[in-house]
This record gives sequence, C-alpha cells and structure tokens, in this order.
Amino acid sequence: MRFDGKVGLITGAASGIGRATALGFARAGGTVAVADLNEPAAAAVVAEITAMGGQAVAIATDLTKPAEIHAMIGRTLDAFGRIDVLHNNAFGVPPTLQKGRIARVAEIDQEVWDYTLQVGLTAVMQATRSVLPLMQKQGGGAIVNTASISGLFGDYGLAAYNAMKAAVVNFTRVVAMEYAGDGIRCNCICPGAIDTPLLQRSLTTIHGFADATLAAIPMGRLGTPEEMANVALFLASDLASYVTGSAFVADGGLTAKTGLPTRFRN
Ligand code: NAI
Repeated sequence: MRFDGKVGLITGAASGIGRATALGFARAGGTVAVADLNEPAAAAVVAEITAMGGQAVAIATDLTKPAEIHAMIGRTLDAFGRIDVLHNNAFGVPPTLQKGRIARVAEIDQEVWDYTLQVGLTAVMQATRSVLPLMQKQGGGAIVNTASISGLFGDYGLAAYNAMKAAVVNFTRVVAMEYAGDGIRCNCICPGAIDTPLLQRSLTTIHGFADATLAAIPMGRLGTPEEMANVALFLASDLASYVTGSAFVADGGLTAKTGLPTRFRN
C-alpha cells in the first residue's frame, strides 16, 4: 500500500485515529496536511513525520467555523497543490459541554446537539463539498469518513452522537453514488471501542464502564488507533479500487452479537 506522490488532508490528525492515519500515510510515501483544533499537537505530528523523512504541514482548524474549513483546504493546496485523499475524522466535545454530553432524549442539551452535528456532520459535508470539484479536476480521489458502530446501532444516552454518525454513514453512500463516475471513491470506517483520549475520558470517568466495555468485546480488548488507521489507509489506497459506499466495521466483534445474554464463553 503506497501513497507516493499523493496528498492527504486529515482532520483531527493531532491525536488518536487521525494521528495514526497521518503517520501511516506519510510512512507509505504520502504528503500530509495535519488539520486540528489543537495546534501544538498538530505541529508535534508534523515534527514526527518530518523526522522520518516525510513531508507534512500543520493546519490549525476549528471545524465549527466554515471559514476555517475553507482556509484549511486553501492552505493544503497552497502547500502541496492537490488533494488526493480527504479523511474527515475529527470529533470531540469541548470541556464546556462535557456535562451535557450524556443524556437521555428528553434531557438533550441543545448546545451539545448543535455542536455534535456541526463538527461531526456539517463540517464533513462542507469539507467534502469543497474538495469534490478539485478531485474531479484531478481525475479522481478518495474520501474516508470516520463514522462509528454508533452510526449503525444505538447507545443509551448518546442520541446526538448516534444520529450524527448514522448521518455520516448515509452521507458517505450518497457521495459514493454521485461521484463514482468521476473516479472518486467515498467510504467510511466504523470503529468500535478504540484506545484514544476520546474513549479514555469515558473509560476513566464512568464507574464500571471500562470493565463492561471489555466484557462486551469478543476479542476482549480495545482496538488501537493504528488498527483503525490500517482500515482507513486501505480504503484510501488503490488496493480498495472497487470499494465505494462501504461502512467498514472494525470493532473486535462487538457488533457481531445479538446482544442476548451469554450461555457460553470461552
Ligand atoms: P481523539 O480525541 O484522540 O482525536 C480527535 C481529534 O479531533 C483531536 O485531536 C481534537 O483536537 C480534534 N478535534 C475535536 N474537535 C475539533 C474541531 N472542532 N475542529 C478541529 N479538530 C477537532 O479521538 P479519536 O478517538 O481518535 O476520534 C477520531 C474519530 O473517531 C472521531 O470522529 C470519533 O467520533 C471516532 N470514533 C472513535 C471511537 C473511539 O472509541 N475512540 C469509536 C468510534 C468512532
């Protein structure tokens, strides 16, 4: 799997799955635009890439602001002249909204709902909308969105996140259909429970959640960011040349189950 001569723009690339994808893309010969709200952490990822002999640029971007999404794409083009791969990956609830993050539907916090849909869905549409004409002109491209198993099934207390990720899955399908004729593929990854700062916040703050999460996963462990990057990179690469519109589950078997209580477990 090689990305020589290709340029990848990755959002949320300063941490977790996005960081691992950025490093993997660079290791495979690609040039990376590392976009993130967290500028120092994005710069640190660029330093890691540069240290391994790769080429990358850090782009401070707040995906709640359409003007910054526009600027993120402009800066990638200024730096590298093209965009072959767009990985819409960023998400995270800011500290000010953490309190209302988990709520049953009758108690949904409007700000959490609006923020979740803006960063997780609207920004994905806005970045995709801007990049598609460039990819058409270039004769093709690949878009990989980070959805979630939470976009395929429900979680108690996470209605906004569930609704947003489900919309990302279906948005992915429409992009795939509409632009297949332009050589543009669009897929999404549906990670399970992955060991990143985003999940660690829940694992360490909600009593009993860490043990219950591990017990629910047939493979008995969390996924690593690198394991998700491997899936995202495959979908972005020419190895996936006939794959478009897919929602690729990588969850250690978590959603292979019916959910009924177990009678037997080895
Ligand atoms: P992470 O917290 O390690 O990384 C997320 C990155 O997104 C951070 O660097 C953060 O600064 C950035 N970000 C957050 N808000 C932003 C904004 N407004 N503008 C620009 N950048 C922003 O989290 P992780 O786990 O790597 O998450 C990546 C994606 O994977 C997210 O879309 C998440 O929903 C998804 N996911 C994660 C799972 C997990 O278990 N960790 C499971 C399923 C999906």
